[in-house]
Amino acid sequence: MRIRKKPYARPELEASSFFCPRPYENRGKWRSVFGNEKPLFVELGCGKGGFISQISAAHMDVNYIGIDIKDEMVVLAKRKVQALQGTEDPKNVILTCWNIERIGEMFSPEDGIDGLYINFCNPWPKKKHKKHRLTHPDQLKRYAGFLRDGAELSFKTDDDELFSDTIGYLENEGWEIIMISEDLSEKPFEEDFETEHEKMFREDGLRIKGLKARFRRCSE
Ligand SMILES: C[S@@+](CC[C@H](N)C(=O)[O-])C[C@H]1O[C@@H](n2cnc3c(N)ncnc32)[C@H](O)[C@@H]1O
Repeated sequence: MRIRKKPYARPELEASSFFCPRPYENRGKWRSVFGNEKPLFVELGCGKGGFISQISAAHMDVNYIGIDIKDEMVVLAKRKVQALQGTEDPKNVILTCWNIERIGEMFSPEDGIDGLYINFCNPWPKKKHKKHRLTHPDQLKRYAGFLRDGAELSFKTDDDELFSDTIGYLENEGWEIIMISEDLSEKPFEEDFETEHEKMFREDGLRIKGLKARFRRCSE
């Protein structure tokens, strides 16, 4: 999605208590950044924050990190989190701008992340671009570097090819698929929150697919 440059985005983010401008400085220390031992989940490509704002307000006993590459997206996510939590200073969310293809620089095994959300990531249909998919095997290998054994992935997309390829990627990387829905309006997740892209795709009559998978660390 094209998004207009927002000159106010970076200054507004830098002034915010829950924006992290240099996420690599917290590598291996994210739990101490939150200052508690609550479960820690990460949303990859959080966009305008519809999902992270709702889930974090629904689960104050869980910590969330939202990552997107664009300041222009993260500043909107920041506002949504503040609006839904009714405070300027939410305690269970940290937002950051970072390229997820370099996620290993911001998390380490010590972070022991409990789960990932990937909602409507770019499908990158051309063969030479597939490596940029957030579910591509190269990415799954990076995630394996900081997930705890048994961590869960929750994934949603409107794209048929990305969905079936992702099932294959996960199986090949040793993940256990625990739930597949070819149509989330017929077979929904136990709990779910609509994202901005999901709303748009549903209005266009597209079928939304989803899966849950469990990360298994191989013992060699
Ligand atoms: C199609 S949008 C989906 C946004 C949101 N999850 C939703 O469902 O409405 C994909 C998002 O992923 C972000 N993104 C794509 N590649 C990324 C990367 N390598 N690192 C960080 N963010 C990325 C984009 O900036 C964009 O906000």
